[in-house]
Amino acid sequence: MLTPSGWRDDLDPTLVCSEVHDVTHDVRSFVLRPAEPAAFRFLPGQHLTLTVDLDGRPISRCYTIASSPLRPDALTITVKRVPGGPVSNWLHDHLRPGDPVAVDGPLGGFSTAHHPAERYLFLSAGSGITPLMSMLRTIHEACEPVDVVFVHHARTPADIIFRDELEQLEAQHPYVRVVVACEDDAEGERWMGPRGRVTLPMLLAAAPDLAEREVFTCGPAPYMAAVRSLLVQAGAHPERCHEESFHLAIPVAARASTFTGPTYTVELRRSGRTIECEERTTLLAAAARSGLSLPSSCHEGVCGTCKTSLLSGRVHMESAGGIRPREVAQQKILLCCSTPREDLVLDI
Ligand SMILES: Cc1cc2nc3c(=O)[nH]c(=O)nc-3n(C[C@H](O)[C@H](O)[C@H](O)COP(=O)(O)OP(=O)(O)OC[C@H]3O[C@@H](n4cnc5c(N)ncnc54)[C@H](O)[C@@H]3O)c2cc1C
Ligand code: FES
Repeated sequence: MLTPSGWRDDLDPTLVCSEVHDVTHDVRSFVLRPAEPAAFRFLPGQHLTLTVDLDGRPISRCYTIASSPLRPDALTITVKRVPGGPVSNWLHDHLRPGDPVAVDGPLGGFSTAHHPAERYLFLSAGSGITPLMSMLRTIHEACEPVDVVFVHHARTPADIIFRDELEQLEAQHPYVRVVVACEDDAEGERWMGPRGRVTLPMLLAAAPDLAEREVFTCGPAPYMAAVRSLLVQAGAHPERCHEESFHLAIPVAARASTFTGPTYTVELRRSGRTIECEERTTLLAAAARSGLSLPSSCHEGVCGTCKTSLLSGRVHMESAGGIRPREVAQQKILLCCSTPREDLVLDI
C-alpha cells in the first residue's frame, strides 16, 4: 500500500504533534507528522488508532484523518471533547506541538475511494463530519467535477465544525452544495438556516435526486438510525448507502458460556498459557473469561488494538476495517472478531 518513501506505522509507530488549532469551543485539530519527513498514504475517510498513556495504562481510541491524502506530508485529526471521556480530554489538555503520540493505521474502509461516483450525498452530525470533510477536501483539491450535497447537523451555530471552510468550499466549487441545520440558537447568535433534526423533506429539498446518489453517513447512533430509515423511505439503494459509527457499543463483561458446540484449545505461546475457546466465542472474550486482560478498545474489529499474530491454526474473522490485507497475509488477526475453527497457537 505504501511506497518506499511512505510512512509505515509498523516501522515507525510514533508521530509528532506539530500544530494545535481550536476549531470550536470544544473541538480541536491536531496536526501530526512523522519524526523524519515521509509521505502518508491513506484514503479519504480512513482513521488512525491513537494510544495514550493514562497513569501507566495504555488506552486507545480511533480518530479519522480529517485532512486530504493529497497533502501527504502531514495528517490532521479533529477531536471533540466528550464529557467524562478519558482520551478526548487528554488530547485537548495535554497534546502540544513537539509531543510524540503512538498510532496505528491508516485503517478502515469507509471511503469514497471504494465507491467512485459522479454524485454524492454526505450526511453528518456533530464530530461525524470529519471523514466526510476529508472526502470533500480531497474532491476539492483534486478539482474533480463531482457533484456533492453535504447536509450537516449541529446542536447550535457555535458547534458547527469547519463552518468557515464549508462556506468557502461551497463558494469555490460549482458542484458543492452545503446545508447546515442547527437544533438551537447559540448564545449571541440566532440561527437563520434550517432548524431541527434530520427529516425526509429536509433531505429531499437538499438532494431531490437522493436515490441516485452514493450516500455516506457518519454521526451519533440515534442520528444514524434516523438517517437509515429516511434513506429507505426515499428509495435509496442499500448498496449505495455507506455509514460509519463513532460510537461503539460498550463491551459486555465475559460470562460463562452454555454453548455445547465444538471447543478448541488456544495456546498463548509467550504467556505460557493454554485456554479453551468455543467455536462461537471470540478469542478476546475467551481470554477475558480465563482472567486474561489483553490490549483492546473497540471490540468491533475497527481499531486494530487487539491485533495479534496467529502462529498456527485457522480462525473465522469478521473485521470492520481494523486490519489491512497485507497484515492478514502476514497471519495477523483481530482477537475481538475472530472465532476458532481449529486448535490455535497465538503469539501472545
Ligand atoms: C472509526 C472511528 C473514527 C472516529 N473519529 C473521530 C474523530 O474524527 N473525532 C472525534 O472527536 N471522535 C472520533 N471518534 C470517537 C473517538 O474514538 C472516541 O470515542 C471519542 O473521542 C471519545 O473518547 P474518550 O476516551 O474521550 O471517551 P470514551 O471512553 O469513548 O467515553 C465516551 C463516553 O462514554 C462513557 N463510557 C465509556 N466507557 C464506558 C463504560 N464502560 N461504561 C459506562 N460509560 C462509559 C464515558 O464516561 C464518556 O461519557 C471516532 C471513533 C471511531 C470508531
Ligand atoms: S479491539 Fe478494536 S479491533 Fe479488536
